[in-house]
Amino acid sequence: MEHLPDHREPRTRSRLRLLAPAAASAIAVVAVVAAATTASAGTTLGASAAEKGRYFGAAVAAYKLSDSQYVGILDREFNAITPENEMKWDATEPTQGQFRYTGGDQIVSHAQAHNMRVRGHTLLWHSQEPGWAQNLSSSALRSAMMNHVTQVATHYKGKIYAWDVVNEAFADGGTGARRDSNLQRTGNDWIEVAFRTARAADPGAKLCYNDYNTDGVNAKSTGVYNMVRDFKARGVPIDCVGFQSHLGTGMPSDYQANLQRFADLGVDVQITELDIEQGSNQATLYGNVTKACLAVSRCTGITVWGIRDSDSWRTGQNPLLFDNSGNKKPAYTAVLNALNAGGTTTPPTTTAPPTTPPPSSPPPSTPPPAGSGCTATLSVQSWTGGFVTNVHVTAGSAPVNGWTVRIALPAGTVVTGTWSAQAGGTSGTVDFRNVDYNAHIAAGGSTDFGFQGNGVGPSGTPTCTVG
Ligand code: XIL
Repeated sequence: MEHLPDHREPRTRSRLRLLAPAAASAIAVVAVVAAATTASAGTTLGASAAEKGRYFGAAVAAYKLSDSQYVGILDREFNAITPENEMKWDATEPTQGQFRYTGGDQIVSHAQAHNMRVRGHTLLWHSQEPGWAQNLSSSALRSAMMNHVTQVATHYKGKIYAWDVVNEAFADGGTGARRDSNLQRTGNDWIEVAFRTARAADPGAKLCYNDYNTDGVNAKSTGVYNMVRDFKARGVPIDCVGFQSHLGTGMPSDYQANLQRFADLGVDVQITELDIEQGSNQATLYGNVTKACLAVSRCTGITVWGIRDSDSWRTGQNPLLFDNSGNKKPAYTAVLNALNAGGTTTPPTTTAPPTTPPPSSPPPSTPPPAGSGCTATLSVQSWTGGFVTNVHVTAGSAPVNGWTVRIALPAGTVVTGTWSAQAGGTSGTVDFRNVDYNAHIAAGGSTDFGFQGNGVGPSGTPTCTVG
């Protein structure tokens, strides 16, 4: 179901329906489980979650920040915010190359003034794309996507706790495959390139993949699981997985086990858009979701998708913790009691350093000339104001041990991020030196590095020297 800008379109029931469980091979990895903390009863969701080393957040609409009842509950109860629509592509880049941060900035300011974390949502999503992007494809779209990631993540650099770098890229149904979309049609590597690009722009933000109908062990969540496992194995920078958890009147019995199998891959897990259709068991389900998160040491927080029922995108389902008048519902009490109960795990406090992304550039179309020494070729994706460059370095007839590629940048161009090489500068003529793992290139072999920047990308053939 597509969500159009500025429209509230609740998902159909079928989208909320849970998929049949599929066999999944959980990898046994030692979980870091800290000692149980003593229950000391907090009186708000945020304070109680904080006592457990976690956050409790809400999706917020900027235009409601003038509603005193809404803001009163927000500031009293929550210590994290996700912008409901304000950081989506249609909102932040309504015209190509023209960025609008008004709503997102308002939310970030509010969060900073009240000591709340911000979950950035979302850099790339097939839904709520601006019209101009919907009309692009192939390399023009790929460049626009990565420029969008770079620009938005750079604008919010240092202010975002976790970014949903990519949202909802997997298909529903029994295949565990990617969803078809114009983003996907730019090439299957779009997700990893987006994560690398986001890391280069804001190395301090946790980078998450976020999806729905992945709340239990099923074919779709296993598809995501396999991608995360592959990313971790290849050093693609991913730190967390978000489980939207738009639930009906039930929840998967393996909800906690599913969170745990992802956590065991070495990523944080977060419940990112929780809302549960009102029925006789709404409070129980809310309590059980909360308990599941607390039982998984790397489940770092829960976000509900709105504050009062009247704020929900699921009109008529009353899926939230406060009623239309702002009163606490039984579901609220169930969550608070679960947060205040003892016997839970504490998330580790250390953050893993960002990994150095391996190269992802395509091979050059023309083979380099033979001979000793090394050669380098550029492939540049440009757009108005920015570019991404991949550099293919090839050894001649002798092995290479250490190399430097010298690239002359046009006047005014500034390098903002480099991967798989060490840049000796950011403008003018820049020497890019190998890093440890790619210093050695076998005779006739090759390696890749890349960089991105503002301004006009380089052209021509760079020089490559060995040693
Ligand atoms: C929803 C918003 O709540 C609505 O206001 C908007 O009209 C459509 O999008 N998955 C997501 C969220 O990742 O961004 C969606 O938010 C709900 C489904």
